[in-house]
Amino acid sequence: MATSDSKFFNIFSLVIGLLVLITILIFAFARAVGHDLQTAKRTSEARYVSEVDARVTGARVAVAGQDNSALTIQPAAGAAVTAALTLPTDGLSTYETVCGACHAQGIGGAPKAGDKSAWSARIAQGQATLYKHALEGYNGKGGVMPAKGGRTDLTDELVKSAVDHMVGLAK
Ligand code: HEC
Repeated sequence: MATSDSKFFNIFSLVIGLLVLITILIFAFARAVGHDLQTAKRTSEARYVSEVDARVTGARVAVAGQDNSALTIQPAAGAAVTAALTLPTDGLSTYETVCGACHAQGIGGAPKAGDKSAWSARIAQGQATLYKHALEGYNGKGGVMPAKGGRTDLTDELVKSAVDHMVGLAK
């Protein structure tokens, strides 16, 4: 490298270095000034204060070593509703939530609800046989009817009223 080149290179590096240093200093100065002013202004602003108040009202804080039993989370009132939904309450809802899965469209060879020709011979067997087949399951020519439609948690009464409902639809 010629001497003039290396001289230029040294000065150039020095200038760049100084500029970088100045940038960092300006940045640090701006942060220092801005930080104090911003925080002070924000925390004294009425809207900020009221919004923070709104967020923390009703907050439940557990304190170590104290009686925190009041903080126990109570099951929401909605939980009881969901439990009631999972078990149908009458023939119609049993049909809609359980039996309809197959019988509404006649899936898997199930006699379609409301289809008179599919049901007439079955109804002719008598109510007792229909109840028995619905409760215990039935494996006929059409397909497999699972016991209680696969919902063994259903009461016999619910299954019977669902049978009555479907028989009613086919009349
Ligand atoms: C997984 C599908 C499926 C579900 C769910 C289902 N069934 Fe069935 N069901 C069938 C099939 C398939 C048949 C036809 C069986 C045959 O004749 O071979 C049938 C037949 C029947 C019959 C006629 C039985 C007979 O002797 O001819 C009754 C009554 C019946 N189901 C009632 C119900 C009731 C009540 C429910 C709800 C609790 C229910 N089913 C849910 C598939 C289902």
